[in-house]
Amino acid sequence: MAESLVGMKRSCLCAEVETADCGKQLVLTGWCHRQRNLGGVVFITLRDRSGEIQLVADEASPEAARNKAALARSEYVLAARGELRLREAPNPDMPTGHLELHIQELRIISEAATPPFYIEENSEVKEALRLEYRYLDLRRPDLQQRLLLRSRIVKATHDYFDEEGFIDIETPMLGKSTPEGARDYLVPSRLRPGRFFALPQSPQLYKQLLMLSGFDRYIQIARCFRDEDLRADRQPEFTQVDLEMSFVDEEDVMAVTEGYVARVFSEVKQQEIELPLPRLTWAEAMRRFGSDKPDLRFGMELQDVSRLLADCSFPLFSDSLKAGGAVLAITVPGAASLSRKELSSLQDYAATYKLKALPWLVCGADKKRGSILKFFEDAQLDALAQACLAGPEDLILLGAGPLRQTQTAMGQLRCELARRLGLINGRPDSLLWVTEFPLLEYSEEEGRYVAMHHPFTMPLEEDVPYMDTDPGRVRAKAYDIVLNGVELGGGSIRIHDQELQQHMFKLLGFTQEQAWENFGFLLKAFQYGVPPHGGLAIGLDRFVMLLTGAESIRDVIAFPKVQTSADLMTDAPGTVTDRQLADLSIRLASTAPDQAGSPSLEA
Ligand code: AMO
Repeated sequence: MAESLVGMKRSCLCAEVETADCGKQLVLTGWCHRQRNLGGVVFITLRDRSGEIQLVADEASPEAARNKAALARSEYVLAARGELRLREAPNPDMPTGHLELHIQELRIISEAATPPFYIEENSEVKEALRLEYRYLDLRRPDLQQRLLLRSRIVKATHDYFDEEGFIDIETPMLGKSTPEGARDYLVPSRLRPGRFFALPQSPQLYKQLLMLSGFDRYIQIARCFRDEDLRADRQPEFTQVDLEMSFVDEEDVMAVTEGYVARVFSEVKQQEIELPLPRLTWAEAMRRFGSDKPDLRFGMELQDVSRLLADCSFPLFSDSLKAGGAVLAITVPGAASLSRKELSSLQDYAATYKLKALPWLVCGADKKRGSILKFFEDAQLDALAQACLAGPEDLILLGAGPLRQTQTAMGQLRCELARRLGLINGRPDSLLWVTEFPLLEYSEEEGRYVAMHHPFTMPLEEDVPYMDTDPGRVRAKAYDIVLNGVELGGGSIRIHDQELQQHMFKLLGFTQEQAWENFGFLLKAFQYGVPPHGGLAIGLDRFVMLLTGAESIRDVIAFPKVQTSADLMTDAPGTVTDRQLADLSIRLASTAPDQAGSPSLEA
């Protein structure tokens, strides 16, 4: 039976008790983590968000309190009054293991059904079950620690940007759907039937307009929504530390951002980051690491060996080179004795990134081994090993095909090798900037150029002349900040000239009418005095994930979604009544939404 808390005012959190309080009467509250009844004595481990403390009910406790202690079960909410004492047999594994509360009075404030899983650190329980009972999952100390750390990061974020003169401004959640970018989450309008709001993918255009209004330095911890396929570092709704500044260039935005990142590292991890951060241009990052978010915690840089193999007879290489592609190599240190099975598993991995084959080679001291030896002269192999800086104990892996595709595949393989060979754990964090991204990339699927960042990104002045003649070669004033091989944030200097902005829309395949129809509010605003401006957004969830060593951003979000974008606890998205649909002038085209995914909407 539930008892009242009246008269039981908590003295402190469970793990806040101190040796100096011994002899005092304290009231502690929390959840029963464990109860052990040894006949004459009942031990209870009481838990709250601060940690645990042992409660003891023995012969010296009043009988009523002893009886109550015997009734306590896992996850019951308890309030205990008693005297704090030093423990006769301290538990060195518990921060409060030298103390215990001798119960004078115990109340069962709330009983609990048997939980579907035991509440403990690093639980092995299936994630789907944990997410269905997320409120119980969130009682686990590791999840609580991560959310506490997240809260401290948010505090550090507000402090830092406030000190730097940034103004915190909220932008709307109900906005306009605009093309380019991910799929929008749409919200039907009741008062304007047939029309839809879109939840913001980011506050990009609003923050640009705030610069136009003169706010100069804007910051927002902004919720963003993108209806895209989920991965371990993506959620349909996520949080950005979003900033924008006026009268600045790339250097200013990058300096403020890296100051922020270093401040968070220092405050929450007591780790000092050396500034300025290293930089790589996008072209160099792709050439050396096969990635626009390279992980610099380990080596194994890619080597372009195309020139060396220009006239080789191995068909995959010669065909790729004739077609304008490349042959790239990775040298894996000390991996000469990798088994056939391991090599074949690497080949399977490479195939998922469209590599047709992954020939290998070991140039041992007295014998060469490899999968394609017969196609090469001995001298050619020696030259290859030399170019790859490969010693007799090292393994050379080769990939060939179109340049960008091969770079990406070998870049992924490089990271996979580092994971499999254990080259990552324990290495210092790697933070860097990747700059000068291409402005546009050609989308085979759409048969046109699309913006690599977004359509508001400023091209590098010296590349503007190529916008019409060779759009793929135009570099942008865009920069990403990368932490341990993950894109932590990205931003750019923006176009602030109406004509250049219209030119950009044209390159993206918009007619003038379409550009005005979709982005007219921006183009119109651009007529009224726009300061040069630029900014960036850091993915807060990703930042917390990396700082806490969590494997997924789901582990740093209180109530995350799963792969299908569903919330397993509330069962959202849910169905709505015909009345609600009628109010919104919506008819469902499909009546079996659960089988067919989300139903299509007819307005
Ligand atoms: P961008 O789209 O690169 O830029 O996003 C910025 C950062 O937000 C994080 N992020 C995500 N985190 C979790 N789940 C997602 N689905 C997700 N998508 C993005 C990433 C990413 O680096 N308006 C621009 C910023 C600017 O130019 O100022 C923007 O949104 O960490």
